[in-house]
Amino acid sequence: MAVVTVPDKNLTLTDAEEIKKHLASIGIDYERWENAKNVSPDASADDILEAYAEEIEKMKAKGSYVVADVIDIKPDIPNLETMLDRFRPEHRHDEDEVRFIVKGCGIFHIAPKDADVVSIKMTAGDLIRVPRGTHHWFDLDETRTVRAIRLFQDTAGWIPIYTESGLEKNY
Ligand SMILES: [Fe+2]
Repeated sequence: MAVVTVPDKNLTLTDAEEIKKHLASIGIDYERWENAKNVSPDASADDILEAYAEEIEKMKAKGSYVVADVIDIKPDIPNLETMLDRFRPEHRHDEDEVRFIVKGCGIFHIAPKDADVVSIKMTAGDLIRVPRGTHHWFDLDETRTVRAIRLFQDTAGWIPIYTESGLEKNY
């Protein structure tokens, strides 16, 4: 279950409906995908994609996503910190960023144009859709572990375009 905080307002949200409502107000979609098939978080990528095939197909239809894959980040990956450094500064993409967390934890910060910065700590069962153009940044927690389903409109679009604002240094 995700934990959403608004650091500038000292606000913390832990209720799924409240989280959904707050994120919707800043243009971010949030869903819970219940694990109907009880697939192990350590199952093969193919088994994970098959277990969530129905949800993935629904999302694909909603957002013109054509490709789904499973990304597996572990603390022992070589150059992990260098890889994370690509996503730690504020950036946007020409492509939606859609992530469903299977295992571990990922932390998104969203910087809406007309609202306070929101931190979203995502854990297993959480799905987020960050629309193209949204200013955001991403990091892992201290476990340095995340396994996630990603959906793409076009994998070529998913490169960070940095805003150079330095905003992330305040959070
Ligand atoms: Fe991103």
